[in-house]
Amino acid sequence: MNSPTKTTQQCQNVADFEAIARERVEPGAFGYFAGGAGDEVTLAENIRAYQRVRLTPRVLVDVSSIDARVELLGLSLPSPIVLAPTAYHRLAHPEGEVATARAAGALGALMVVSTMATRTIEEVAEAASAPLWFQLYVHKNRDITRHFVERAEAAGYRAIVLTVDTPRLGRRERDARTGFTLPADMPPANFAMKYADHARPGTAGGEVTLRTQALAHLESSLTWDSLKEIRAMSKLPLLLKGVMAPEDARRAVAAGVDGLIVSNHGGRQLDGAEATITALPGVVAAVDGAMPVLVDGGIRRGVDVLKALALGARAVLIGRPYLWGLAADGEAGVRRVLELLNDELELAMALCGCPTLSAIERGMARVEG
Ligand code: FNR
Ligand code: LAC
Repeated sequence: MNSPTKTTQQCQNVADFEAIARERVEPGAFGYFAGGAGDEVTLAENIRAYQRVRLTPRVLVDVSSIDARVELLGLSLPSPIVLAPTAYHRLAHPEGEVATARAAGALGALMVVSTMATRTIEEVAEAASAPLWFQLYVHKNRDITRHFVERAEAAGYRAIVLTVDTPRLGRRERDARTGFTLPADMPPANFAMKYADHARPGTAGGEVTLRTQALAHLESSLTWDSLKEIRAMSKLPLLLKGVMAPEDARRAVAAGVDGLIVSNHGGRQLDGAEATITALPGVVAAVDGAMPVLVDGGIRRGVDVLKALALGARAVLIGRPYLWGLAADGEAGVRRVLELLNDELELAMALCGCPTLSAIERGMARVEG
């Protein structure tokens, strides 16, 4: 084992950032970020499955210059690594999502901003210099839902990412054990403009947990028919996040959705769901080029990004890795994590004989076991 890393400058990889984050945030918040549902089988499997992907590199290709640029729904991005929507960044750092957005901006990275952010849609847009997408949780109260979508469109967000794997919240036993509650001074910021009294639905004791929040707001009756209603709320492209089954991917194509994110919510929802990297090829085959397919869950190394692209993803999202950076060192920490992963990706591309992302071939990766 390496000796514990003390400063972010010494961090060699994402795991080193996690070790620092564990020391810097209080245990309840750390458990919220790190944890998954149930026995955390899916959480662990997301990571393990990448270790079962084997690569077959190509040689004697000029890799003296590497370009990881990707085209994605009208955006041209310098890297296929996107920041996944994660809630409550102020639990990791006082500046919250604003620090994350500045770091993303410094590298031109696309950031997906959570409905449950602790800075407003507008504050994040103000701080951002790279494109933003807005992650939508459909609220039982459709006025709230529409209010969020309209604000995102007005603030210049470029797409809506509808999360479809959370009709209820997964069983997060770490949160129950630590008694994790949402701090009173950290309400989800987007309610404040018009729906402040909806921001903190509590228990009888006045405590606000993720569970009380979810119970109060999350719509559990959404169906494929509901997509029309969501689409009508804005002109922005619509992606579905949380699709795992090829049959659902086919339905999404038929519904005219603009993109899919293969995700099991980082193992925080259905424990026992398969790893996203093994679900990806089936979804890609079902979509058959009709729209871009992205994947998230378990990416901890740049080489994992290459593996995902070789298995058919257009781009990938990372969640916990950048949260560790944010907790360790705010904006600079997020930037450093992105730089590390981008450097690792570049190296993996060079060693696989791929000067561009389009040179990454489907045959290059296979999942063993
Ligand atoms: C999430 N995720 C998530 N997804 C979403 O659609 N809306 C949200 O508000 C959140 N919030 C959230 C909080 C935290 C602390 C985590 C760790 C995750 C899921 C997230 O977008 C993504 O799917 C996973 O984080 C990907 O897995 P990795 O990269 O964390 O392994
Ligand atoms: C989570 C929710 C908020 O995973 O998406 O914690």
